[in-house]
Amino acid sequence: MMKSETVQSLVESAKIYQMVTERLDLIDNPAKEELTFESELMELILEFYSGDETDLPVEKLQKFSMMQVMYYLQASHKLYISKTLPEIEQSMAHIQRRYYETPQILDALVLFFNHYKTHFLEHIRMEERDFFPYLKKLHHAYTGGLSGEEITELLNNTSLNQFMDDHDAVEDELRNVSTIIHTYSEDEMIPLPFKVFLNQVELFEMDLRKHAIIEDHVLVPMAQKIEKELRERF
Ligand SMILES: [Fe+2]
Ligand SMILES: [Fe+2]
Repeated sequence: MMKSETVQSLVESAKIYQMVTERLDLIDNPAKEELTFESELMELILEFYSGDETDLPVEKLQKFSMMQVMYYLQASHKLYISKTLPEIEQSMAHIQRRYYETPQILDALVLFFNHYKTHFLEHIRMEERDFFPYLKKLHHAYTGGLSGEEITELLNNTSLNQFMDDHDAVEDELRNVSTIIHTYSEDEMIPLPFKVFLNQVELFEMDLRKHAIIEDHVLVPMAQKIEKELRERF
């Protein structure tokens, strides 16, 4: 018989595998000529998700273009909104139905989560509305799609520093879920549905942390390089 630790780590790796590869179908890559990049990129991402936070394979990721990395991150946004968040909310609804006689912890969780969701969606909206379109324009400019005048205007009106300043660590707050559950449960055993909920939230937190590392340490430097070259030329 397998030791329970082995089973647990198998379950964990299967979960991580599923959670990463699900993004493949969500990638919306308009440049259809490079259809294979997704699976290669996914392998590296999987490696990063299965290892330590410091193990980001920055160098290996350099073989992908800024747009490819951006398509991947956009697919992650889609996954968070269409699947991860609804699943967490579903668990919360289950807990609400099952543990209605302990309103304190439920109220605290619901209150926290509603507030968190607003903050999280605003974070994603900012990237989809401001940051990614700017990267697309940079790419367009870099590949000769904009006139010199248009490039000057683009570089005068926007910069990556604006994005860097606004980019907050939206995952940190999720730790409050654990605090809330442990505070209200004190020494009593934490009921299984709460543990499941906590586990989903912790996985989401890990996902978001790695997502932010890819944004800050892969995507932004790629864009900075292009922006710098354009500023030197125009
Ligand atoms: Fe993001
Ligand atoms: Fe972000």
